[in-house]
Amino acid sequence: MKKSIGVVTLMVGLSLFAIRTARTQGQAPETTTKPSAAQAPAKTPEPATVTAPGTESGIAIFQQHCMSCHGNANVPQAPAPSAIREMTPERIYDALTNGTMKAYGASLTDDQRRMTATFLSGRPLGSLQQGDAKDMPNRCPSNPSMADPAAGPAWNGWSGAGVSNARFQSAQAAGMTAADVPKLKLKWAFGYPNGLSAFSQPAVVSGRVFVGTDIGYVYSLDAKTGCVYWSYQTKGSMRTAPSVAPVSGRGATKYAVYVGDIHANVYALDAQDGHLLWTAHVDDHFIARITAAPTAYNGRVYVPVSTSEEYQASSLDYPCCTFRGSVVALDGSTGERIWKGYVVGEPKPTRKNSKGVQLYAPSGGSVWNSPTIDVQRNAVYVGTGDGQTQPVPDTTDAIVAFDLDTGKIKWFYQVQAGDAYIGGCNGPTRTDNCPEVNGPDLDIGNSPILRTLPDGKSVVVVGTKDAYIVAVDPDRNGALLWKVNVVPAPPGDPNSMMAITRGIFWGGAADDRDVFYGVQSGGMVAVDLATGRRRWYTKFANAGPYASNSAAATAMPGVVFVAGSDGKLRALSTTDGSVLWEYDTARPFETVNKIQAKGGAINSIGPSIAGGMLFVGSGYAVVGTGTGNVLLAFAAE
Ligand code: HEC
Repeated sequence: MKKSIGVVTLMVGLSLFAIRTARTQGQAPETTTKPSAAQAPAKTPEPATVTAPGTESGIAIFQQHCMSCHGNANVPQAPAPSAIREMTPERIYDALTNGTMKAYGASLTDDQRRMTATFLSGRPLGSLQQGDAKDMPNRCPSNPSMADPAAGPAWNGWSGAGVSNARFQSAQAAGMTAADVPKLKLKWAFGYPNGLSAFSQPAVVSGRVFVGTDIGYVYSLDAKTGCVYWSYQTKGSMRTAPSVAPVSGRGATKYAVYVGDIHANVYALDAQDGHLLWTAHVDDHFIARITAAPTAYNGRVYVPVSTSEEYQASSLDYPCCTFRGSVVALDGSTGERIWKGYVVGEPKPTRKNSKGVQLYAPSGGSVWNSPTIDVQRNAVYVGTGDGQTQPVPDTTDAIVAFDLDTGKIKWFYQVQAGDAYIGGCNGPTRTDNCPEVNGPDLDIGNSPILRTLPDGKSVVVVGTKDAYIVAVDPDRNGALLWKVNVVPAPPGDPNSMMAITRGIFWGGAADDRDVFYGVQSGGMVAVDLATGRRRWYTKFANAGPYASNSAAATAMPGVVFVAGSDGKLRALSTTDGSVLWEYDTARPFETVNKIQAKGGAINSIGPSIAGGMLFVGSGYAVVGTGTGNVLLAFAAE
């Protein structure tokens, strides 16, 4: 991706965060138009000049200012990055401000020291035990035994119903029909203490809502009232949707809730009372993280592993690059590792850079999305991220199928070849760590959707950041079925920021006829699953200045929901894309737990629908003004 790095030293460079959302100017309002290739709206991208608050951005500072010692074998006294990541943010901040690292901290602003401490520890300063349920005024009066999650309506994990990642809820489980959607009214709001982002999509199981927060809490709330049953604070910020599943051999515990944190730790908590059953560290790389929901299936948990290594890997102090993406299968009852399937081969030394620092390849292939399980074909599908160094393996920017039992790659379909991308490699900050050609940075951030069509044939579908929808055949080792472009490229450089980020990021929803994706350049598109033919494309009339709709879609019969970075949640008719209902979440809310809360941007997550209610989190600090810390619960009246 081309960016004006020269003016911005501390940019957030991670591919999938919408900080790269170009702000648009002078965009003519359009409604339900069907743009032709000639109709590309004129947009002026601005460089992203905002540094992201929260846990996302301090990696660039660490790569540039600290890794000449930390992680350098020639400076053995300096604690390894992984050891620093175990420290509290307070200790790291103190070392940089008053302690042994004062000399290096002095070249940073106070904000930068905080960002570094926050990133390394995975938690903001002052967040330890600052959101415990026991201190909340809305504690539930009692905690009756949870009903069997399989018995009632549920939106469980990332995809809601089942493990095909179609994000489609049946009318029965939704507990509402298309006719009820326009009658949705806010029932309650819950504030995330000290939160800047609502990264975690709520799960709704047995009449309870399970959700994680960016300061590392997991909460269990009552779906009807929003009273809180329990909380548990993990070691790091949490972006994943929880999954609830039965466990065995754990005494009185019947059901576990699984989540992952930003330090690559998976936690299994007792869904009834929140006590820790086990925790598992799924990757030893110091910048490994879990950003997408683990998928619970048949006694196992399948965990996607990603990284922010590429942020500022152009720094000559950084031994670029050694992370490789993977999926890890764990035993759901014990946390024991069953297999770890890597997306690319083991990084080996290649050459030394001009500062004498060793470089490595292959690397990359982060898994940013929740694994899709194909029960019939005994496979796990994920979308994979770009490579970081050259040569770039064919399994990057691809749909990869792992064997469900062994983790061996069964097949893959590469959407973009040769994509090695490193932050800081465009413009004047380019170094000889950089790939010859940087980018185009086309990670596949969304879960493959598996659908069986009325004729019995199956399709596996993903969307790309440059606005293609790609369908492959799981019965023919991922052979291409169709590939269509749904948003025409803007005129000019095909690798410009607008060209690369106009499309699909976090995920679509599908019924048995169509697949629906919100697009980063604003609006939503519906495409026929059998042929790839576009059925409709709706742009929103009253879209705000941050009108990107890259959040994941959620569907039920007749209706598909999509939210936006402008904070608006919309329900569209699946028939023609007309808007049935709209709600603006970007405002303050009174909360059941009496903390100050507001909505902001909605990005990455979509709404969860079950038992007559709809839940959505609002706030996404990575988008300039989009901070927010609220969970909203709606029901039809
Ligand atoms: C020139 C080498 C060098 C640089 C550059 C450097 N460090 Fe260190 N760092 C060290 C060494 C050596 C130690 C161990 C010091 C000791 O134990 O007295 C250390 C210790 C630390 C500790 C542990 C403090 C504690 O409480 O135990 C932290 C945290 C830390 N460094 C963070 C950083 C960060 C963040 C940066 C970049 C802004 C940085 N360092 C830059 C060499 C360095």
